[in-house]
Amino acid sequence: MQSLSKRLPALLRAQGLQKRSLSTTSALFGAKLDASKVTVSTIESRKDYPSPEKLAFGKTFSDHMLLAEWTEKDGWKAPQIVPYGPLSLDPSASVFHYAFECFEGMKAFKTEDGSVRLFRPDMNGKRLNKSSARLALPTFDVEEFTKLIQKFVSLEKEVIPHRKGYSLYLRPTMIGTNAELGVKHPSKALLYVIASPVGPYYAGGFKAVRLQASTEAVRAWPGGVGDKKLGGNYAPTILPQIEAAKQGYDQVLWLFGPENYVTEAGTMNAFFVFKKDGKKELVTAPLDGTILEGVTRDSILALARERLNPDEWIVSERLYTMDEVAERAAKGEVVEAFGAGTAAIVSPIKEIGYKGKDIAIPLQADKGAGELTETVAKWISDIQYGVEKHPWSVEV
Ligand code: COI
Repeated sequence: MQSLSKRLPALLRAQGLQKRSLSTTSALFGAKLDASKVTVSTIESRKDYPSPEKLAFGKTFSDHMLLAEWTEKDGWKAPQIVPYGPLSLDPSASVFHYAFECFEGMKAFKTEDGSVRLFRPDMNGKRLNKSSARLALPTFDVEEFTKLIQKFVSLEKEVIPHRKGYSLYLRPTMIGTNAELGVKHPSKALLYVIASPVGPYYAGGFKAVRLQASTEAVRAWPGGVGDKKLGGNYAPTILPQIEAAKQGYDQVLWLFGPENYVTEAGTMNAFFVFKKDGKKELVTAPLDGTILEGVTRDSILALARERLNPDEWIVSERLYTMDEVAERAAKGEVVEAFGAGTAAIVSPIKEIGYKGKDIAIPLQADKGAGELTETVAKWISDIQYGVEKHPWSVEV
């Protein structure tokens, strides 16, 4: 399979999209996104929040939201922080008809000393820009994006649960708002950010999941947009997920091509540990255009390369197939497996249904997760909660 990063510029040129997506960016025309221009209008008194242990993922929202409007003619208007509430959009807005929507998931953490920290916010800004440009929606200066997020989070500080495993989940979203049915690049857009106080993805620690490897539905393909965080990539995954759930699986393991390359696990990047030549190999699929450029994925790879003993470990970004997983599991060469993403950080995998058989993936019986799964979860969590001082952790 040819690397998509090599093929994408040619593909976009062929579709006339590369030029278009650049010509609609505010970087070239109109006012730039400017965090210093933000206006703030606060609510009079905060609503009641559920106690932390009752917080379900993404169901409670903070009292404010951040909005920044963009027009092709004038570029970015002054951003606004306003009370949380419904948006008023024309029913013909392009987001509703042609899926001009992309988003991010990021978190703010309250550390032991009460300070608030973001985890690699620049990575989310960069990825949102890539998603947005691919949809011919506007882009922005990542530093201004980060400053706006910092300003917004500092206003919502008091609703961040002060407990390990808890955080404020942030959802930056970009939508096309031009009111017209012509299929064209959006001439108006809205960047908005909402925030949701959340607890651990799985109450009570790790919950190892059973995956059904999908040989029918495909999440992403070369030349497609599976590497971008577009809402349109998520909705079509739900029906296969419901079918998998009917058969007792928690999530779908997404495969690609006649070779059944392993790509992603549910909404997460997938990692496997194999035994190899007396060493262990940590493997994840390469960023070939079918894989979301996960911030947690990138962080795990960087920390693993830095911290695992190279006499014992190989860290690989390479193609691997579900048949390789099945064959190596039969030989006792699969050590552990996990999914990685912002919401759950890491999610251990205990079983994979493939071609009518269930393949067992080892776990440490007492921990419900593999040894490396547990180790990387601690590496990331220690940085996020400021237990370990690290440049990825950015104070608000
Ligand atoms: C993540 O874990 O990073 C995700 O993308 C999940 C989110 C869509 C809820």
